[in-house]
Amino acid sequence: MMINYQRLGWIVGYCLSPLALIAGSALLLTGCGTMPRTRSPQIEVWDDMRRQEKFKPQQYNAMFSDLRASRRPVEGTIARGYLHAEDAMNTGLKAPELYEGVIPVKVDADLLKLGQARFNVYCTPCHDRAGTGKGSVALKTPSWQPSNLHEDRIKKMADGEIFAIITNGKRSMPPYRYQIQSTHDRWAIVSYVRAIQRMSSGSIDDVPAEMRTSLTDSKSQTLLPPPPAPLTPPPADGSDAQGGGATTPAAPAPAPNQGAAK
Ligand code: HEC
Repeated sequence: MMINYQRLGWIVGYCLSPLALIAGSALLLTGCGTMPRTRSPQIEVWDDMRRQEKFKPQQYNAMFSDLRASRRPVEGTIARGYLHAEDAMNTGLKAPELYEGVIPVKVDADLLKLGQARFNVYCTPCHDRAGTGKGSVALKTPSWQPSNLHEDRIKKMADGEIFAIITNGKRSMPPYRYQIQSTHDRWAIVSYVRAIQRMSSGSIDDVPAEMRTSLTDSKSQTLLPPPPAPLTPPPADGSDAQGGGATTPAAPAPAPNQGAAK
């Protein structure tokens, strides 16, 4: 019998090659790399993602000056669960419902300067630089008025209460603990609030004797804005000097104060 090669070719072409294709793709789909007993591919063309460049603990690393790959935590890091933030320094409360009376950090010129800088950044938009509550935000929102920090009620607050107000906000004032994260900075602001509160209750006696002349001296006085009010009650005939200042606008600003200071 003669073998019909042409027919054989057709049989192979039509029947076997689709079978071979199915078998081949089945093989591919099984992901022939992974063998049942090992977790790593047998053939690795590119590095597997599990193998990446990294440093392990206790390894050597020339990039850092101490040549250690392990880095120390940032100074002041507190482990989770170990932050005891319930003390007066952090809350302004020395007992539940009892405010800390006095600022618990050392009050000196540096603290006041820091407080001034922070106050001018964080509080003046609403409370203004003098603390009277007429900041630019307040001017635009007549229905939302910040407190005047010179009010007697606020002057009488314990230092810890002012700290708590900065930290947690009060009524419509938002909390500032997120913006001013350092408790030290917040206490510095309290010290500065106390300082500006003295503006409205201070008298000439608060000024050191050697500096008083610079306040009352007419020459240096011209550098300052007009004085807000006489520092001492006007003498019996002082009404003259004061009246003179008020009725003649051409008179130099220091005139009323000169009369009052004498
Ligand atoms: C976004 C505007 C805004 C900023 C900024 C702001 N305050 Fe206030 N503050 C207010 C408002 C409004 C009130 C009045 C709240 C009320 O009575 O509802 C207030 C009230 C207060 C009070 C008095 C609370 C009382 O019992 O009347 C103090 C003290 C105070 N603020 C301190 C500060 C200090 C210090 C800062 C800076 C860290 C500051 N505030 C920043 C809006 C602001």
